[in-house]
Amino acid sequence: MRIKFLCLFILCSEIVIFVDGLMANNTGVCVVPRSVQKTRTKKYKTRINKYCGARKCLVTKTKTETYKVTKNESVCCEGWKYDSNSDICSPYCSMGCNGGRCVEPEVCQCDPPAFLDPKHKNTCVTPTCEPPCENGICVGFNMCTCSEGYTNMNGKCKPKCENCANGECISPDNCECHNGYIKTDGVCNPACVGCENGVCTAPNTCKCNEGFIKNDTNNNCYKPCPKNCKRCDIDGICQDGLCE
Ligand SMILES: *[C@@H]1O[C@H](CO)[C@@H](O)[C@H](O)[C@H]1NC(C)=O
Ligand SMILES: *[C@@H]1O[C@H](CO)[C@@H](O)[C@H](O)[C@H]1NC(C)=O
Ligand SMILES: *[C@@H]1O[C@H](CO)[C@@H](O)[C@H](O)[C@H]1NC(C)=O
Repeated sequence: MRIKFLCLFILCSEIVIFVDGLMANNTGVCVVPRSVQKTRTKKYKTRINKYCGARKCLVTKTKTETYKVTKNESVCCEGWKYDSNSDICSPYCSMGCNGGRCVEPEVCQCDPPAFLDPKHKNTCVTPTCEPPCENGICVGFNMCTCSEGYTNMNGKCKPKCENCANGECISPDNCECHNGYIKTDGVCNPACVGCENGVCTAPNTCKCNEGFIKNDTNNNCYKPCPKNCKRCDIDGICQDGLCE
């Protein structure tokens, strides 16, 4: 049955190839019964018109007769072709697979980022991105997938940084602080000259701690000397009237 069906194809001889090495359990291998005609000679006895005594004589003659034997054989299934180089059945794509591989009968597979053209199932197309993807790969029409360490922002792959407030992420996990900021403990903090006993709240903006006032000469904060006191120590405690 199977053979008759296969032989309806013009390429019958190409499709039906019997190979001993094919394992029945391999992909693309089908086991089919095949009838072969054989001949053998058979002896038989017959009477001839000659008398041996009262009866006709019996002589032994031979004739050839044909008979059929059915054998199971491994063939490449429909849609598969024998590949003599590797001795396996390979899937066959009748239209070819431009830019890709035939992975199942009439099924092409493309290597990413190339994908199967929806209109021509035997053609792989490579997506195009304009402008080209920077720090990523083009996976579809104007669609970029960003490389590791980069994230998509407004269609562009920008480097990612853990915490880059007051700075600019110039490459993955590499934050460059804006002018007026300095990196302390991995984050960009405003930088101030001086600012002892105070908090630097913005570049060169020092807010003195409670009870301190600013020395505009060195930008440090100090405890002011109480009024009417001539001499104070560094903590603003009046030293007037104390023994030297
Ligand atoms: C296929 O069958 C053969 C013999 O029965 C066996 O040795 C082999 O391991 C099988 N292969 C697979 C992939 O099952
Ligand atoms: C052929 O295969 C069929 C189905 O697997 C089995 O029943 C039959 O015995 C096989 N015949 C021979 C000659 O091996
Ligand atoms: C202010 O800073 C200047 C320069 O360091 C210093 O000479 C001066 O004594 C400071 N003034 C006060 C009130 O601390």
